[in-house]
Amino acid sequence: MKKIIIAIDGYSACGKSTTAKIVASKLGYAYIDTGAMYRATTLYFHQHYVNITDPKAIHKALENINITFIYNPKANRNETYLNGLNVEDEIRKMYISEQVSEVSAIKEVRKYMVALQQKMGKKKGLVMDGRDIGTAVFPSAELKIFMQADMHVRAFRRQQELLEKKQVVGIEEIIENITKRDLLDTTREEGPLRKAEDAYVLDTTHMTVDEQVDFVINLSVGKMIESQNSIIIN
Ligand code: DC
Repeated sequence: MKKIIIAIDGYSACGKSTTAKIVASKLGYAYIDTGAMYRATTLYFHQHYVNITDPKAIHKALENINITFIYNPKANRNETYLNGLNVEDEIRKMYISEQVSEVSAIKEVRKYMVALQQKMGKKKGLVMDGRDIGTAVFPSAELKIFMQADMHVRAFRRQQELLEKKQVVGIEEIIENITKRDLLDTTREEGPLRKAEDAYVLDTTHMTVDEQVDFVINLSVGKMIESQNSIIIN
């Protein structure tokens, strides 16, 4: 079957990465969490006191950032490495969530990340999640999904995720953070979060993870068959 690119975009904490990970594993595809790339960049900027109003400092910082994903069989997940160091847990902390939208709105940062992401998708057979995957990174992806969910459901899910990592954060603080990020992500000039015209909307408010996965898998199979047929016809 012909390999395709599956682009999953949407608001924070709608279940994008949970869904994308399982879909990728079921299809034997690679999974790239682009939010992790922006988070790792934010961590680097934070650790090195990068002045985000200074284009030269940003450029220099980007040249020194190397982000990789390495599969951890014990945890059964891909983990994010920043310059050789495992930063998977650090980048999920609230202080990074509070700064990441600002860093990811920087034009230079986006240009750099989008180019890296496009390189990763050269061979197809990829599920990538983020905010601008179907619009800027892979505008011709065979399948585009746009995920959304009710704010309280999103906040509750994020709280549970943090609790599993032994981080206790109040629901109000989470709602405030998500609301702020939604606003910054949708209103920035570069690669704003918006639904691609040809994206399928997936509202996960009342859905289980299995249902979300099935929704994407069913569409994927259809798109793979379509792509296969278009090769035969052409
Ligand atoms: O998916 P996430 O919550 O881990 O993403 C963290 C932040 O990174 C999010 O607030 C916006 C930004 N981001 C982005 O601007 N573009 C992407 N493709 C992915 C994430």
